[in-house]
Amino acid sequence: MKALVISSDIELKSRIGKILSMRNPPIIMLSEVPSMLQNGGVTAIMKPDLVLVDATDHEQHKLAMLEKLALQYPQASLVLLATHQSSDLLIAAMRAGVREVLTLPLAHEQFEEALDRITHKLEGSVPKEGKVLSFISCKGGSGTTFLASNLAYALASLGQKKTLLIDLNLQFGDAALYLSDAKPTMTLADLCGQMNRLDAGLLESSLIRIAPNFGVLAASDDPDPAVEIRPDHIEIILQLARKHYDFVLLDIGRQINGVSIRALDGSDGIYPILQQSLPFMRDGRRLLDIFSSLGYRKEKIHLTVNRYDSSAKLRTSEMERALGNTLAHFIPNNYDVVNESINQGVPALKLARSSSIGKALAEFVNQLTEATPTSGMGMIRRLFVRNHANGGSAGNQTT
Ligand SMILES: Nc1ncnc2c1ncn2[C@@H]1O[C@H](COP(=O)(O)OP(=O)(O)OP(=O)(O)O)[C@@H](O)[C@H]1O
Ligand SMILES: [Mg+2]
Repeated sequence: MKALVISSDIELKSRIGKILSMRNPPIIMLSEVPSMLQNGGVTAIMKPDLVLVDATDHEQHKLAMLEKLALQYPQASLVLLATHQSSDLLIAAMRAGVREVLTLPLAHEQFEEALDRITHKLEGSVPKEGKVLSFISCKGGSGTTFLASNLAYALASLGQKKTLLIDLNLQFGDAALYLSDAKPTMTLADLCGQMNRLDAGLLESSLIRIAPNFGVLAASDDPDPAVEIRPDHIEIILQLARKHYDFVLLDIGRQINGVSIRALDGSDGIYPILQQSLPFMRDGRRLLDIFSSLGYRKEKIHLTVNRYDSSAKLRTSEMERALGNTLAHFIPNNYDVVNESINQGVPALKLARSSSIGKALAEFVNQLTEATPTSGMGMIRRLFVRNHANGGSAGNQTT
């Protein structure tokens, strides 16, 4: 997708360019041709999909330019950036074929939401709502970190999904070490200390990059980090992450506290990891009771058996009966591949794609990447609904 940004404000253009380049897939910003302002955009070779026009100066002139641009590029979505949203301006903008009017100074979230609507309209689909999946141990050492980190890598590499892994082990988190030997420059605790400037760019730059479409937000290696990680921090980070990643996987570890509960609340799916032994069953049962008292639906819980051995004494039917829920996923026991991967800090798929672990991860990815359609909302209605919500006057003109 290509965007043309017409503005004399260099700072605004560079900020927009940065946001566009961070999109998934990135939106290419075309450079403005000097003659464009005079000619009203008669540069057919550019064929932008998106045209953003800053109407700060010469509003009438910019609106006239937009009308010409709409004729020139009928397939393009036009966005007007204005310092105010008077009803006259909104109506003139709509007549000119403008799809969105955004107020300056540009609010990052609002801009991203408008871009979501436009890109999905162009693609004929719906705004991105990534899935948040939480991995939690029924008991220490169940393989939660191995599974969360390696499934995240598999979603990015095999599933071609933009994926984020967040290590929520507030003490002794080690998820990043399972995938890479790189040292994090920023951790979850550092990010929580900068919530006032949190945006997609800051989140992305805080990650250890494992693949172009996969990064890890590492846990702090200080067991008592300077900044407190609060439940509302997690909620805000997850809301942002959902908009920019197809999958957000959380290594919750074993802890049930305010932070992990907020993460579980905000998750689409919870994957308790257990093994085929009585101590795991006991702790698994307790965990499921906690989930039930937290009001989580059964369908949200996907029990996952790690180190699965079909010849184990404890049969899956007995486990399901005792736990009162079906077992959803099975990851085989493969000590050699798993330990080689953890010791080297290299994803298991990279080391042994055709191993039993590699195949199980591929199967897991297949199950997670089945499409789920949702519905959208009309542009004009949205324009006026939003204006109503902001207390603007244009909404009155539509009735
Ligand atoms: N599928 C598997 N096959 C064989 N061994 C495994 C498998 N999964 C995990 N392991 C073993 O279990 C150990 C613990 O795994 P991992 O660190 O992922 O567990 P955890 O639940 O995150 O532990 P903690 O409670 O310490 O956070 C690994 O070092 C590895 O030896
Ligand atoms: Mg762990």
